[in-house]
Amino acid sequence: MKTIWITGASSGIGKSLALKFANEGWQVAASARREDLLNQLSESNQNISPFPLDVTSRENCEEIFEKIKNKFESIDTCFFSTGTWDPKKEKEIDIDQMKKVMEVNFFGTLNCIKAVEMYFKEKKNGNISIVSSIAGYRGLPNSTGYGASKAALNNLAESLYFDFGRYNVRVSLISPGFIKTPMTDKNQFKMPFLKTPEFAAEKIYNGLINGSSFEIDFPKELTLILKFLKILPDSVYFKLIRKLTKYQKL
Ligand SMILES: NC(=O)c1ccc[n+]([C@@H]2O[C@H](COP(=O)([O-])OP(=O)(O)OC[C@H]3O[C@@H](n4cnc5c(N)ncnc54)[C@H](OP(=O)(O)O)[C@@H]3O)[C@@H](O)[C@H]2O)c1
Repeated sequence: MKTIWITGASSGIGKSLALKFANEGWQVAASARREDLLNQLSESNQNISPFPLDVTSRENCEEIFEKIKNKFESIDTCFFSTGTWDPKKEKEIDIDQMKKVMEVNFFGTLNCIKAVEMYFKEKKNGNISIVSSIAGYRGLPNSTGYGASKAALNNLAESLYFDFGRYNVRVSLISPGFIKTPMTDKNQFKMPFLKTPEFAAEKIYNGLINGSSFEIDFPKELTLILKFLKILPDSVYFKLIRKLTKYQKL
């Protein structure tokens, strides 16, 4: 039986992916801070085991990965999906908030990668998936902390793709569009091509198991547009985004 470690498994994309892998016969080590939700998940599917964790603590990440290694014969895939987004606090340069977002989204993911680094380099196979966002492609209005944290993850993932690739370890970048989860339920704007977490889980599962590409992005209706915006000259990009988001000069 294969094993996957999933962080951010108490809700949203991470939870749906935990259920998808468990239903496909994988053993799932499920992590997040809310132990009660992880226990419920584990009770709903015997292939899921709870491993409560706060990713902002490097020691906690190492300690939990030790426990996961002790429980399972071998770990095949890691899927790091923790993230935080508070739209109300993204409109200004709130340094404390931006540090908080970086602590979870960027350093939290990095703490997990560090915890598994030597294991995978010695094993010389496996997969490490980093959940980023289309919000990391280019700067967007009212996204001072989240977008920057995801752009940092995109760059990190590319860098690690080379470094882990030398050890035959696949690093993949997950770029979801809008998915209906507790995170996006806070959004007060219309989210184009909004999809369910189950849709996200299907796309991710297929990309990881049947595909070999570096980036797994979905839904294509949205990500293809954003990929096009990514290659536009700055002046055209800024003009277009102002128009699309009705962003007025003051
Ligand atoms: N939904 C979207 O449209 C969308 C789009 C692009 C990218 N993403 C990315 O997808 C990932 C999952 O987001 P989601 O939409 O599924 O949101 P979500 O339902 O809010 O899930 C976030 C998960 O992160 C966990 N988490 C937060 N802080 C943590 C910490 N310090 N330590 C451990 N776990 C922590 C939460 O669990 P606890 O609170 O129990 O710790 C929860 O399980 C995020 O990285 C997000 O940025 C989402």
